[in-house]
Amino acid sequence: MSTLNDQVRAFWEQGPCGTNPGITGTIEPLSRDWFEQVERVRYEREPMIHGVAQFTRHGGQRILEIGVGAGTDHLQWARAGAECHGLDLTQAAIDTTAARFKLYGFESNLQRHDAETIPFPDAHFDVVWSWGVIHHSETPERIVAEIHRVLKPGGQFLGMFYKRRSLAVFKEWLKWAALRGKPWRSFADVLWHHFESVGTKAYEPHEMARMFQAFGQFRCDIAMTPYDLQHFPRWLHPWFPQGWGSFLDITATK
Ligand SMILES: C[S@@+](CC[C@H](N)C(=O)[O-])C[C@H]1O[C@@H](n2cnc3c(N)ncnc32)[C@H](O)[C@@H]1O
Repeated sequence: MSTLNDQVRAFWEQGPCGTNPGITGTIEPLSRDWFEQVERVRYEREPMIHGVAQFTRHGGQRILEIGVGAGTDHLQWARAGAECHGLDLTQAAIDTTAARFKLYGFESNLQRHDAETIPFPDAHFDVVWSWGVIHHSETPERIVAEIHRVLKPGGQFLGMFYKRRSLAVFKEWLKWAALRGKPWRSFADVLWHHFESVGTKAYEPHEMARMFQAFGQFRCDIAMTPYDLQHFPRWLHPWFPQGWGSFLDITATK
């Protein structure tokens, strides 16, 4: 019987996140134009990435990215002068990121690997970066324990997890539960079955604090995203509290 992560891998092997034809249109895949389009759309939709990563503060440091996807953030680490190492569950992500690095003239040690075991020694990295990845894995707590292990003392985890009580998840609940006559279904159940790969989880800030309790310092900021605001009339947007956003931006120091 396949494990959950086999199903997660099968889902993401269909194509790295942020590269679907709705974004890239008819542009030749893996061309410079194609990567530029992927990058443009990514930072238009998720500008908060720069505030969390602060790529240029980490030049010269050794960074590990978990879940490189199409390699857009990975490229920013390289441009900032970091020593880059990247993992992903899928060959599609590793091949796409490798092609991107070749095209732009950078190097990274990329490996297809399940981050529930990280193939590096203790206290090896200055930074571990992971944006929108760990909540897809079967046992996120195992990945966080591994991140803690491979970080140097004083090293930082930077990244993002989904927030459960958010507008984006509420809209999925309306679609999959309320409008189908099943209002008893929980947000967690809807996420697990209908949000990207099977088994997707989402959290609240206090649950994140618990998951990162081994870290010395922990910070969690809620971010409102276009995915939350989409479909609501524009005049309503300023009235939504920030706390209804669907991203939990995390900074945790070992
Ligand atoms: C939503 S995409 C995010 C990719 C990229 N970080 C981004 O923001 O575009 C999730 C990625 O996480 C990878 N992934 C999921 N579980 C993983 C695991 N246990 N170990 C390594 N990568 C994993 C998937 O293969 C996929 O490429």
